[in-house]
Amino acid sequence: MESSLTIRPYRISDLDDVLETLKAALGESPILKRTPALWAWKHEHNPFGPSLVLVAEMGGRLAGVRALMRWDLALPDGTLLRCLRAVDTATHPDFERRGIFRKLTNDAVEVARQKNYDLIFNTPNDRSGAGYLTMGWRRVGTIGVMLRPLMSRGAKVDPDSPPDPADFFEPVPAPFAAGEVPQRSSSGLRTPRSREYLAWRFNGHPSVKYRATSDEKATVVARANIRQGRKEVVLSDILGRANRRSVAALARKARATYVAGWFSPRSPERRAAILAGMVPVPGVRSLTLVARPLRELPMDVFDLANWDLAMSDLELL
Ligand SMILES: CC(C)(COP(=O)(O)OP(=O)(O)OC[C@H]1O[C@@H](n2cnc3c(N)ncnc32)[C@H](O)[C@@H]1OP(=O)(O)O)[C@@H](O)C(=O)NCCC(=O)NCCS
Repeated sequence: MESSLTIRPYRISDLDDVLETLKAALGESPILKRTPALWAWKHEHNPFGPSLVLVAEMGGRLAGVRALMRWDLALPDGTLLRCLRAVDTATHPDFERRGIFRKLTNDAVEVARQKNYDLIFNTPNDRSGAGYLTMGWRRVGTIGVMLRPLMSRGAKVDPDSPPDPADFFEPVPAPFAAGEVPQRSSSGLRTPRSREYLAWRFNGHPSVKYRATSDEKATVVARANIRQGRKEVVLSDILGRANRRSVAALARKARATYVAGWFSPRSPERRAAILAGMVPVPGVRSLTLVARPLRELPMDVFDLANWDLAMSDLELL
């Protein structure tokens, strides 16, 4: 019954039910287990601050969850936008199509407005994407894939086993021994790569083990993945002065079928990746970026050309 729907802020005692709901609605994969550690990493340890989380109760049960991660984005002139990322939304399958996602999301937008956030952005799947577009979100654009096939094709591997970085890379270290953080100017909205952010993003993930190759100019960060039984190395980010040689070094050290990644057009990282043999695959869409400004903003956020992103900004693995 619609009348018994209650929306309220998340409490720590909801955690088991929330994870159960996420599991029931979204499932799991070998590298994406809905564990308390993953929840804590995303929603409690995030250096931008704890997430804004609402839950829905119906008939005495937890029926839905809506989490907005805090996320800062810098404009090219350095001004920070206080943003939120709409992630981890799920309605328990027993309660679908009763308006729970809509109510949770609209209420969360209201809270975000009251707290003076500037913008919400996310990369929804096809199921929730349609719903966002009816709630004031608009499409920014599609994110493609850049690929470089590798010589070491290797045998197919079990798609249900978690990838072991030792099988995918010649020994390369985990990222960052807390060194200096190289920043660059940006051509659009960009996540500031503070030391704190990088440590959380690449060293703190509870289940994904990032690896990095570094030279005097740049650090290339990647992770191992298995896609359709093939070994994939995902080029997550390039920090410092991106150059062809740094990406080529990663490709040399990767024992996978291919290297995949994505960087915004006009970014130095994209240029370096292309010079190192990574090719944008025509017609392939990996994600769709959508956004909902919460006030008048100094740039057109619905133009993908105004975003300066790497794969590390888009996926939360
Ligand atoms: C997607 C999901 C969150 C929708 O939750 P819900 O509570 O059933 O959604 P609502 O009843 O509030 O529907 C709101 C709008 O979303 C869209 N929508 C919801 N479910 C949809 C579906 N299965 N197919 C297409 N559109 C859908 C519709 O526009 C709907 O409006 P309408 O009912 O007026 O047509 C829910 O199905 C779910 O948890 N799915 C699995 C998890 C998931 O995909 N999460 C998104 C991760 S990005």
